[in-house]
Amino acid sequence: MEIQISVGKLETEKCPAVALFLPQEASSFAAKTIYSSLIARLHRQKDFIGKFEETAWLYPNENEAERLLLVGLGEWNNKKLTENESRHTAQSAIGHAVLAARKLALEQLHIWLEGPLVEKLGYRLAAQLTAEALLLANYRFLKYKSKIPDKEKPLRSATLLIGDERQAAEARAGARVGQIIGKWTCFGRDLQNTPSNDLTPSRLAEIAAENAATQKISCQIYDEKGMRDLGMGALLGVGQGSVNPPRFVALEYHPAKNPRHENGPIVLVGKGITFDTGGISIKPADDLDLMKFDMSGAAVVLATMCALAELQTPLHLVGLMPLAENMPSGSAQRPGDIVRACNGKTIEVADTDAEGRLILADALGFAHRYKPKAVIDLATLTGAIYVALGETAAGLFGNDQALMTRIKKAAERTGERVWELPLFQEFFDYMKSDVADIRNIASKPSGGGSSKGAAFLATFAEGYKWAHLDIAAMAHPKEDKPLVPKGGSGYGVRLLVQFCRDWIEAKF
Ligand code: BES
Ligand code: MN
Ligand code: ZN
Repeated sequence: MEIQISVGKLETEKCPAVALFLPQEASSFAAKTIYSSLIARLHRQKDFIGKFEETAWLYPNENEAERLLLVGLGEWNNKKLTENESRHTAQSAIGHAVLAARKLALEQLHIWLEGPLVEKLGYRLAAQLTAEALLLANYRFLKYKSKIPDKEKPLRSATLLIGDERQAAEARAGARVGQIIGKWTCFGRDLQNTPSNDLTPSRLAEIAAENAATQKISCQIYDEKGMRDLGMGALLGVGQGSVNPPRFVALEYHPAKNPRHENGPIVLVGKGITFDTGGISIKPADDLDLMKFDMSGAAVVLATMCALAELQTPLHLVGLMPLAENMPSGSAQRPGDIVRACNGKTIEVADTDAEGRLILADALGFAHRYKPKAVIDLATLTGAIYVALGETAAGLFGNDQALMTRIKKAAERTGERVWELPLFQEFFDYMKSDVADIRNIASKPSGGGSSKGAAFLATFAEGYKWAHLDIAAMAHPKEDKPLVPKGGSGYGVRLLVQFCRDWIEAKF
């Protein structure tokens, strides 16, 4: 979607629809526009009272806009509303505006930014959050549809209306940031939603290289020979059952301007299983199609790197994407096989369906060479995380409280929630193997599956500050939300972009 900023007056704007955001508090209800009497009447009749998530269409005659869309902000002026809550409220109100406009199959929507939104958030932040929310709410995966019904068509353009030129400059700067974050999040969603027949490890590696090049990110792709030279026996083992060979992608971004060396590099690692059948420890057929989403971590790492590079973030960044298809076949690895990861540790592959931790073991081992200030991995690692947290938050694990605190702060700002889970000693003990240095599944079936998986990863992340996000339940929610439609969610892009931008500002 194209996003413009225009300086104008609500009363004179020629367009199909203008959205107006109104709090529930009666005192602030009368917007300072020529429509205030109309709006007040609607309010008196209680047809629209400005409740959060409420929308109403008005068809005024005096104006040049065809329609006014009123969108409720709820108790916007309530002092108890924190800044973070205001951000989320504003963004989901924008999301509801987009949905309402699309219901009428409109192609264009104007957003009246003046009033409550800018009063609370300022022009720059209001425009940033608005632009981002517009793109997120407007997203649909339509690439494979031969015919798109009118009602499913996304908006083609949105315009943010600002009262005067000076403030429009602020808004332009903010909107640019929001647009970049929104665009790359949607790029990540596209990758997630792409079916596995069109997104093999080598294809995903190519896409990484193409997009990295547009943002001056260097991209090194290792094929099987390259991985053998690196000693990545765990990643090779997972990939060996498929006719689509595995790849390992290393992205690196060196900022051109003001690199703050003391802060970097930050290494981001993403699980990239382009399809997870479980391998010889094969999964049941129910919902197996959803295993195309098992590369969500890698997609999010690529999208985050591109967004931060396009924003010219002065931070040295590395993105690692171990990519493989987990298939059963005559050449597949067997339960009981022992593989050696690139850090020299041997792993007993007791279950070929615990493959994510295997490919991450090699990526986390590889991360050491960058002498990272912090490493964060994202992985659709365990079904158990659904049991623990549902579709409400990613599981957060790590070996450094300060790092995890920063991730929590970024999560609160963006609304991409995380929840810390424990790494008790017992979880490490369960992963002991009789025949190798470690087993990939616990020897006792005693629950805590997500913590056990994280404990396995932790033993490959020794020697640097590390955090792990189990995004299995967040990567492809089943429920439609205004900013996150069903399917690939891009969960993690906004969180990590915020985290990295805060990291250099040393902002908490
Ligand atoms: N990709 C799955 C995790 C998953 C499950 C993601 C359901 C989304 C929905 C992962 O590779 C896996 O199979 N994990 C196993 C681990 C077990 C064998 C220890 C699981 O969670 O069952
Ligand atoms: Mn699996
Ligand atoms: Zn998996």
